[in-house]
Amino acid sequence: MSDSLQELRDYLIRHHGGDGQRAATRTLEGHARNHDDNFRRFWAEHAAPQLQQGSRVVDLGCGPGLFLRDLSLTSPALELVGVEAAPYMLEQACEDDYDFSIRVADLNDPPADLFEHTSLDVALANRLFHELHQPLVLLQKLHDWLKPGGVLIVIDMVRQPLGSFLTHKFGKDRLDEPLGAKEMAALFEDYFEHNRYHDSDLLALLAMTGFEILADEPIRSGRAVQIAARRPY
Ligand SMILES: C[S@@+](CC[C@H](N)C(=O)[O-])C[C@H]1O[C@@H](n2cnc3c(N)ncnc32)[C@H](O)[C@@H]1O
Repeated sequence: MSDSLQELRDYLIRHHGGDGQRAATRTLEGHARNHDDNFRRFWAEHAAPQLQQGSRVVDLGCGPGLFLRDLSLTSPALELVGVEAAPYMLEQACEDDYDFSIRVADLNDPPADLFEHTSLDVALANRLFHELHQPLVLLQKLHDWLKPGGVLIVIDMVRQPLGSFLTHKFGKDRLDEPLGAKEMAALFEDYFEHNRYHDSDLLALLAMTGFEILADEPIRSGRAVQIAARRPY
């Protein structure tokens, strides 16, 4: 394994709270919530019209690959590929039992030949961008990999005031009991790692790399956003 992939894996396990198995379990448990009716409607409106027999769909930062599993059951004529780097996510992946494959790569700096020029119909990055050191290199490569008219769906947490983050975490806006300093340090780290971009920052990055915005919707009471963008024809 290269030094840079090992460094990424060290970073990811820290970001995932030091316990990879727990992070993988939480991703499996959160799958239905993170691919809920609202997600499915957005996918149906902006990604599905792009798909026909043999179309290639890529899930970037696919975790254990449950979205690809679901898609392989409902749309068996697609070519489905995931990209992932964390070993504990890859261990949980069920690619042998379903019709999709996973490529291991660092999406901070993916090799240009991870996909061929204009070979993708749809790409999804569901809660990936906040885990990247920067998303611009990936966006430039995606612009090259997508077909003209190909669609990129980006879903991620967006910046929110510390007060509303804490109120949401604690379920109340007043703290009257003593708090553990270690748990609070973890909570603040969580805040800073999940509050990287405003919606407008993501839109600016997409525009800067040549994408056209098709739709931009706040979700989860404004704590996250789902964006559909297109490589222009
Ligand atoms: C929050 S999880 C979301 C997983 C999945 N997309 C979902 O919605 O359930 C983000 C995923 O991106 C992966 N990831 C983060 N940075 C990455 C990178 N630089 N290269 C490849 N995968 C990465 C993580 O390991 C993790 O599985």
